[in-house]
Amino acid sequence: MLKGKQILLIISGGIAAYKCPDLVRALRKRGAAVRCVLTAGGSQFVTPLALGAVSEDKVYEALFSLTDEAEMGHIRLSRESDVVLVAPATANILAKMASGIADDLATTALLATDKPVICAPAMNVRMWENPATANNIKILSDRGVGFIGPEEGDMACGEWGLGRMSEPAQIVAALENFFRQGLPLDGTRALVTSGPTFEAIDPVRYLANRSSGKQGHAIAAALARMGSVTTLVSGPTHQPDPAGVEVVRVESAVQMFDACTHALPVDVAVLAAAVSDWRPEQVPEDKIKKIPGAQPPGLSLVENPDILASLSAPGNTRPRLVVGFAAETDNIIENATAKRARKGCDWIVANDVSPETGTFDGDANTVHLITKDGVEDWPELSKNDVAGRLAERIADALAVTP
Ligand code: CTP
Repeated sequence: MLKGKQILLIISGGIAAYKCPDLVRALRKRGAAVRCVLTAGGSQFVTPLALGAVSEDKVYEALFSLTDEAEMGHIRLSRESDVVLVAPATANILAKMASGIADDLATTALLATDKPVICAPAMNVRMWENPATANNIKILSDRGVGFIGPEEGDMACGEWGLGRMSEPAQIVAALENFFRQGLPLDGTRALVTSGPTFEAIDPVRYLANRSSGKQGHAIAAALARMGSVTTLVSGPTHQPDPAGVEVVRVESAVQMFDACTHALPVDVAVLAAAVSDWRPEQVPEDKIKKIPGAQPPGLSLVENPDILASLSAPGNTRPRLVVGFAAETDNIIENATAKRARKGCDWIVANDVSPETGTFDGDANTVHLITKDGVEDWPELSKNDVAGRLAERIADALAVTP
């Protein structure tokens, strides 16, 4: 959600300003660019040097600086962002905003901006409860200013109550929600599985398969881009974490099953992982030794839980739409159609994973979408395009079955 977004962060003079370098780092980690404006009060709690280092940008402080004004005038500063975030927002800056006072760079930028403004208030509980502040919050809310927090808890001044600035993670989550608004999958939750599973034979050996995780990861990224709050449960892969997705890493099918169950309820589940059907029955604590001259050890297997079948079973937590994958090497449509019926899912994305297709490790995929209405043959597409097209189909399906 935050990838490529430009955030103007206005830091006013509250003790919570010490959290701002962490906030900047968290926003940048999600792909946002952050430009900081520091008030005189803010600079008592956090230095321009620290903010400049974490934002990798100039920190703006002075309204009447000739060099700043020549480089980036205060009007441009306020307009070149997707959102203006005031954190911490003190009682003082909120009062100035409510009254339209512009007596420093921060308040001038706030008065000049035509972009959405979101505040994370931070102040003593009495200041927060004061009717003057309450009135200012009402004036600003009526004007469309958004608020994150404040939270209840211990205050730097020793008191307890409402007034703590929300933690950086909460602010990041609120901004992500803000950017989700209006997207096709806004208000939905998605679960995606991806990659192979590793089934331990002993502490050093395991059973695995050739799944790269590319397709599953691309689907999680596409659903998140379209506004769904997405959890990706991934087996071991070399894929980078998709932007804006909560990633839960697991190794075995049993762990994947537990993580998926934990992620419920969701609106849609797309199970693209190549889950091992079996696992070794016994896993010794120590490495199995090779005994010269002895027979190789046998491997007794037991069945793993079927995540797709379990999520598809009728019940309170059944997602509105369950999508499975069928990796086949022969009779693709027939096998996949039978798999859809057997597992009870709504759709199956079937693909040919015979070695000659290069699907497992490659970037392209030729799939067939099997629904209750029949089979759709999609042309060869990149895995990213398969993901995008599938996410669009999911958005359409969820829109008609609220
Ligand atoms: N799947 C699952 N849990 C399992 C096995 C498979 O969730 N224990 C899911 C996969 O993520 C995929 C679908 O089921 O969405 C089909 O997996 P596949 O291995 O092709 O199907 P199987 O039922 O194992 O059939 P077979 O191996 O005989 O083709």
